[in-house]
Amino acid sequence: MRSKRTDKEAALAAKRHAAQAAIGQIRHDCRLGVGTGSTANEFIALLPEVRDRITAVASSSQATTALLSELGFEVLPLGQCGTLDLYVDGADETDNHRRLIKGGGGALTGEKILVASSRRFVCIVDESKRVKLLGKFPLPVEVIPMARSAVARKLAAMGGQPQYREGVVTDYGNDILDVRNLSILDPVEMETEINQIPGVVTVGLFARRRPELVIVGTAQGAYSL
Ligand code: 5RP
Repeated sequence: MRSKRTDKEAALAAKRHAAQAAIGQIRHDCRLGVGTGSTANEFIALLPEVRDRITAVASSSQATTALLSELGFEVLPLGQCGTLDLYVDGADETDNHRRLIKGGGGALTGEKILVASSRRFVCIVDESKRVKLLGKFPLPVEVIPMARSAVARKLAAMGGQPQYREGVVTDYGNDILDVRNLSILDPVEMETEINQIPGVVTVGLFARRRPELVIVGTAQGAYSL
């Protein structure tokens, strides 16, 4: 049996390999959107290698901006950058069609805005994030606080079991519901349906706009979906 330490080291190596491969996607004069989470953090740690090539925009005003600033990057507001050349971020799940669940870290709305503002979206994951069918990871839904119960009832009517993520307030002052047991057979349709519930800010399904590339890191290297 492998030790816990070895498993942890292998998981970290996988994230680093995916992050390193994503650095290779950065061209000169790149307006770069930077995501949130432990895999995105590995990517951020490598960004000093390409400091002279990038202008950075962050998906999360808290976590990502703080890390980039610590490394001496000026973080520009999206409004000053217009269309981004590239957005790099992790995910909680990816299927074989590169459709994702994101939002485990609570930054799904900023992430979706940056994805929609980017010419190219590259997702970086380790192999544990690969699934045949999306939905084992509870689906995050950001909601306006006054609509939380009403949205929860609609999600329950769709067959899900929504749970309020206690103690979490998003960058935009909203709540998050994590929804278990949804049968996500058609992720594009479900993304559309949930986004149309009044009070939903955004759902953590990234299926209508998928990444152009998913880089899967392993303990030995990386491959693409
Ligand atoms: C944050 C996200 C993250 O990308 C996602 O939760 C993956 O995080 P990690 O790389 O730590 O597993 O969507 O909102």
